[in-house]
Amino acid sequence: MSVAINVDNVIKKFGDNTIIPGMTVNIKNGEFFTLLGPSGCGKTTLLRMIAGFNSIEGGKIYFDDKCINDVPAHKRNIGMVFQSYAIFPHMTVRENVEYGLKLRKINKDEIKEKVDKILDVVKISEYQERLPERLSGGQQQRVALARALVAKPSLMLLDEPLNNLDANLREEMRFEIKELQKKLGITILYVTHDQEIALAISDRLAIMNEHGDIQQIGTPWDIYERSENEMVFKFMGLANFIPVRYQNNHHYIGEGNQILNWKNLPPNSGKLGCRPSDIILSKNNEGLLGKISRASFLGAVMDYMVEIDGVTLRTEIPTNKALRNNLMFKVKIALSVFMICFGLILLKKSRGVYYGYNYSK
Ligand SMILES: Nc1ncnc2c1ncn2[C@@H]1O[C@H](COP(=O)(O)OP(=O)(O)O)[C@@H](O)[C@H]1O
Ligand SMILES: [Mg+2]
Repeated sequence: MSVAINVDNVIKKFGDNTIIPGMTVNIKNGEFFTLLGPSGCGKTTLLRMIAGFNSIEGGKIYFDDKCINDVPAHKRNIGMVFQSYAIFPHMTVRENVEYGLKLRKINKDEIKEKVDKILDVVKISEYQERLPERLSGGQQQRVALARALVAKPSLMLLDEPLNNLDANLREEMRFEIKELQKKLGITILYVTHDQEIALAISDRLAIMNEHGDIQQIGTPWDIYERSENEMVFKFMGLANFIPVRYQNNHHYIGEGNQILNWKNLPPNSGKLGCRPSDIILSKNNEGLLGKISRASFLGAVMDYMVEIDGVTLRTEIPTNKALRNNLMFKVKIALSVFMICFGLILLKKSRGVYYGYNYSK
């Protein structure tokens, strides 16, 4: 049986150093939940608290309705997979996977049945007699997963398990982990600093800042398209923040005097957040007038810096689209820049906090 996790105002300190100042997050039973944050923000620290390897300096952690603060690690029924797979080098794949069950003195037939099944699920049956040194990184990661899953944990904690894999394998494994979770219906708490993995794999995610504070919790769509503040917006991908001035009933960029004539902007000055792909370059004299200040070919996309009224914006167009639409530009060319409203957020500073506004056409 899997569990819901309720982290209630949890505090972590190492000596005088506060790593997590008070975190509250609820993870549903059977959910794939990801904690996403920069390196050093306290992700591993929190996982270790949930697993029972770190003390808790304040607050409570519940599995379903049960407070587990004082439950020893080995009684929490958790499977854990780390970045360094930590599989035993002197044991075969099969021996690695059955190790935990043997310690529990489960009978031989039952062990065999469970191990056969999980080796099959994670697709490593054919390597079961090999030593880890004869496995690829991806295969070793599967062994670590099998070893954590074989005991039917109520919760899986995955700590950046794909970091050591090359890009192609990382992409393949993340879909497999997601499939595995669907098949087994288990609650997974995954931590990573990789935005793309988090978006691809999670039902919901929480964004942490470098001080161990959660900034936003939501679905991948909420987080990326409806970022609640500047930190989240910036952390989730390349971002432009455009200073916008509201004056005489019109919005302007920076100190310029070209009017931004979008109907649904609130009557405020503020910062407008947008992604490079939210900006459309055109030669048709629509939108604002700008100038290309840098042009880079990045393979799949053309990356242009555009200057409008003294403000520099990063934009990108798929290379094939740029070719088809005659939008291959050189530096210093003047052109019109059209920004799509969808994807823009106006950030207003209020009591030191940035609030996001979202607009669609
Ligand atoms: N055992 C420890 N003693 C003292 N400080 C620690 C200990 N473990 C982690 N830290 C500190 O806690 C902070 C968060 O670390 P960590 O949880 O590993 O970050 P993340 O996993 O998000 O990269 C870091 O500043 C780290 O130096
Ligand atoms: Mg870590």
